[in-house]
Amino acid sequence: MTHHIAVIPGDGIGMEVIPAGLRVLNHLNAAHGLGLEFEHFDLGAERYLRDGTTMPPELMVRFRESFDAIYLGALGDSRVPSNVHAKDILLGCRFELDLFTNLRPIQMLNAKYCPLKDKTPEDIDIMVFRENTEGLYVSIGGQFKKGTADEISTQTEINTRKGVERIIRAAYEYADKNGRKSVCMSDKSNAMRQGHDLWQRCWKEVAAEYPHIQSFHLYVDVLCMELVRCPERFDVIVTNNLFGDIVTDLGAQIQGGIGLAASGNIHPGKVSLFEPVHGSAPDIAGKGIANPLAAILSSGMLLAHLGHPDLEARIRAAVRHCLDTSQVTGELGGNLNTEAVTNAVLAHLDTTAQ
Ligand code: NAD
Ligand code: IPM
Ligand code: MN
Repeated sequence: MTHHIAVIPGDGIGMEVIPAGLRVLNHLNAAHGLGLEFEHFDLGAERYLRDGTTMPPELMVRFRESFDAIYLGALGDSRVPSNVHAKDILLGCRFELDLFTNLRPIQMLNAKYCPLKDKTPEDIDIMVFRENTEGLYVSIGGQFKKGTADEISTQTEINTRKGVERIIRAAYEYADKNGRKSVCMSDKSNAMRQGHDLWQRCWKEVAAEYPHIQSFHLYVDVLCMELVRCPERFDVIVTNNLFGDIVTDLGAQIQGGIGLAASGNIHPGKVSLFEPVHGSAPDIAGKGIANPLAAILSSGMLLAHLGHPDLEARIRAAVRHCLDTSQVTGELGGNLNTEAVTNAVLAHLDTTAQ
């Protein structure tokens, strides 16, 4: 069986961490005959600046019809201040491929990288379900009298019955299937009395179908506070697009750093996109020092999506080994570069091969 994987390194450190993740995927592909076939796409700021291309519409059709997964680095470059290429490529894939679940684990692998005191890996093991196809991200709005003192700008938040219900249901389904004991739904329904009232009503209906799972609600401001004060309260969190973006950077930090945060943009059973949570990190790009572990963990999520959860577990174990033995990049206090950390991951994968 062949799995077609589209590879989009994108901008900045995306071009450094995606090759690292591909080394891991190629290694496992060769060892286990996974049938992974990669096709590389030159999409990102350089391409846009060169010929104006962001995301060719016919390519989106190919992604939908002929690929099993997309492996993406990051998009963002100061030479494209409008960020139009990220909108068309990344948000384009999320919206047009209907990747409604942005699955973002917050999983501490080693306590020494956690900025919170006295927390253990057992305390921080959370799965965030970020709604990924609507909310404030849909780009509905406008500007009137732009650039004048009387300017008006609007940006509309979209919450649909279908969209809200399916992400909440996905979170409960996941909790149910994975033995998670609670789901926390987070919104801002005290202030957002229309859109987030819909979240409240959908949540109460879906939660009632899962009486064995403990359901609770927190406003997103309190969620941020509680994630720092008492992360062990949380098992599964479900929230909207923007809040999910913000909360998962906070989560990335409490689990050990943005260089360790992986994600999947998923439509179950269809082509799905896997990427580190971090961006193109222009401040460190081009130096070969970016932490590849978030991209490597994302490659594990990709393999799990293709039916290999055992290989994801081995990748996670290899990453944990690097952290345990301080074989890490500079931002985590180590002295290895991107390539050396990747070598350490590959070496550990060899030790766990049957
Ligand atoms: P960022 O995540 O790129 O960087 C934030 C900080 O974390 C920086 O100091 C950076 O050096 C550090 N960092 C990030 N990843 C790291 C890694 N793997 N190893 C070591 N350090 C790492 O966020 P930003 O600076 O706000 O954004 C830069 C650009 O990336 C912007 O254009 C933004 O829009 C874009 N962005 C893209 C994505 C994506 O494509 N998925 C995600 C976030 C940000
Ligand atoms: C992320 C990023 C994106 C988002 C940006 C680049 C549009 O921050 O994937 O977390 O906000 O979703
Ligand atoms: Mn983000």
